[in-house]
Amino acid sequence: MKRFLIAGNWKLNKTAKETNLFFTTLQPLLSPAIQSELLICPPFTSLPTAAKANERMNVSLGAQNVYPKSSGAFTGEIAPAMLREWVSYVLVGHSERRTLFHETNALINEKIHALFKESLKPILCVGETLEERKQDRACSVIGDELEQGLKGVTKEQLPQLTIAYEPIWAIGTGETATPEIAEMMHAFIYDWLVQHFDAPSAEAVRLLYGGSLKSSNAKPLFQQRHIDGGLIGGASLEPRSFIEIARIADQIQK
Ligand code: 13P
Repeated sequence: MKRFLIAGNWKLNKTAKETNLFFTTLQPLLSPAIQSELLICPPFTSLPTAAKANERMNVSLGAQNVYPKSSGAFTGEIAPAMLREWVSYVLVGHSERRTLFHETNALINEKIHALFKESLKPILCVGETLEERKQDRACSVIGDELEQGLKGVTKEQLPQLTIAYEPIWAIGTGETATPEIAEMMHAFIYDWLVQHFDAPSAEAVRLLYGGSLKSSNAKPLFQQRHIDGGLIGGASLEPRSFIEIARIADQIQK
């Protein structure tokens, strides 16, 4: 059985001071111990503060982005080895990066290889727009994102990979995918992995759901066969709501 991964993507939120307050408030909420793996992805500038505050807790840290080169004239960018000093996970291909910053599947693929080279764990984000869903193209869009994003990835690397299904129409909108829609898409991703690798390798990849996930809608989503956790935006900014979601995951037996 896979351990649930409850991940917070803070996006462009929280100064270092606010990050410190988050972790200070979080600490007493971690007792009794949480069984699911907790992950926080703060902005780069908050990573040292998060790492320091976290010395007393068992919360994994992640980055929200990376550049796939190790050094050089790339003003404003951050290399995998720089992140490795602070984090174990890195988000790759979030829809906001794809749409607002024009990231292509080819760049996302480069990032995934660069992360594996530094023994960092990529969380590949995929998802369709409302228009693509209405045109019945959701599976083909996600199939393309997987095909191109995971080009050259080997079976041996898969246990280090996480995939987050985040339908773009559900991100920050308050509208969540129904458990049936989410499960159908997660099963599609799982089957894709089985076809391109094999069943044991597919089983090793955790599949997260993201998009307006909160404590009021988490339970039926987490009960689905192919949902192994969540990637949470808004509801991860407040320690109590983040932990409530993790406690719901802890209650579910699959
Ligand atoms: P919300 O939970 O705010 O909808 O954001 C989801 C998301 O994009 C996480 O990466």
